[in-house]
Amino acid sequence: MKRIQIIAEMKAACRQLTRAGKTLGFVPTMGALHEGHFSLVRASRSRCDATTVSIFVNPLQFGPTEDLSKYPRPLERDAELLEGLGVDLLFMPTVDEMYPAGARTHVLVEGLSDKLDGASRPGHFRGVTTVVTKLFEIVRPDCAFFGQKDAAQVAVLRKLVTDLDMDVELVVCPIVRETDGLAMSSRNIYLTPEQRQQALVLQRALMRVQMAAEQGERDAAKLGAIARQVIAEERGAHLDYVAIVDPETLDPVGDVSRGTLVAVAAYFGTTRLIDNVVIAGGR
Ligand code: PAJ
Repeated sequence: MKRIQIIAEMKAACRQLTRAGKTLGFVPTMGALHEGHFSLVRASRSRCDATTVSIFVNPLQFGPTEDLSKYPRPLERDAELLEGLGVDLLFMPTVDEMYPAGARTHVLVEGLSDKLDGASRPGHFRGVTTVVTKLFEIVRPDCAFFGQKDAAQVAVLRKLVTDLDMDVELVVCPIVRETDGLAMSSRNIYLTPEQRQQALVLQRALMRVQMAAEQGERDAAKLGAIARQVIAEERGAHLDYVAIVDPETLDPVGDVSRGTLVAVAAYFGTTRLIDNVVIAGGR
């Protein structure tokens, strides 16, 4: 595995693979890698001839009071694990390399970027779409792999790729969970043992909603109330949102149907966690 920090070198290495006739898979990450990330790498390995990964803690997508400076950066460990998985190229640029002084261009998906996590984290998705656009232009992958864990991010990126006619196929992979059901996240390490237990309420709330939907409840307001009630019963959880929305537009639905996204976000102490489920079955 080649480790690359410079954009021009990464472009050259990627173009060389493409020119050799290889299909390129790309997994963008912010590092502190876990099984969720590795599932994306494996998906890329099984689908594409060569796999590229980026590790870049993107300052543009963090708010002024968020965890940018304390975000975990176990770079050496991450690189070794990726090498073991058979990754071909690892791109790990510095902030100055990605955003040199004087850079002025941003990419914004209007009307989507301010929903769900975008509502709680103003500017977050503008940072995501700007960095992903740059990374796509550097790598020019055939396929790029993202996790369903960040369902709103998926909606925003799908619209980005459609609206800008980008020549990349987005592949969305299922949420990878700990054995007790907690969705894996680089932020889980911030949790105290007590908060770690409390955080299970997210999955519990989603399962209750899913169960009620399976038993025939279609009313999104009622399903939302069920989720809020479950979360309210966990005193350590401070609800950010329960959203029952169309997975593409992120607009609230009145009645759920097959494919409706139920997404939750809550704080445990200062750590904000998200989770979601897609309603199966029904109309
Ligand atoms: P990061 O949080 O590191 O996540 C990188 C990718 O891993 C994302 O596509 C995310 O959805 C996926 N992922 C994280 N936890 C997962 C889990 N438990 N199961 C399945 N997939 C999971 O998302 C970002 O970084 C950034 O916003 C990025 C796209 C890299 C742009 O900076």
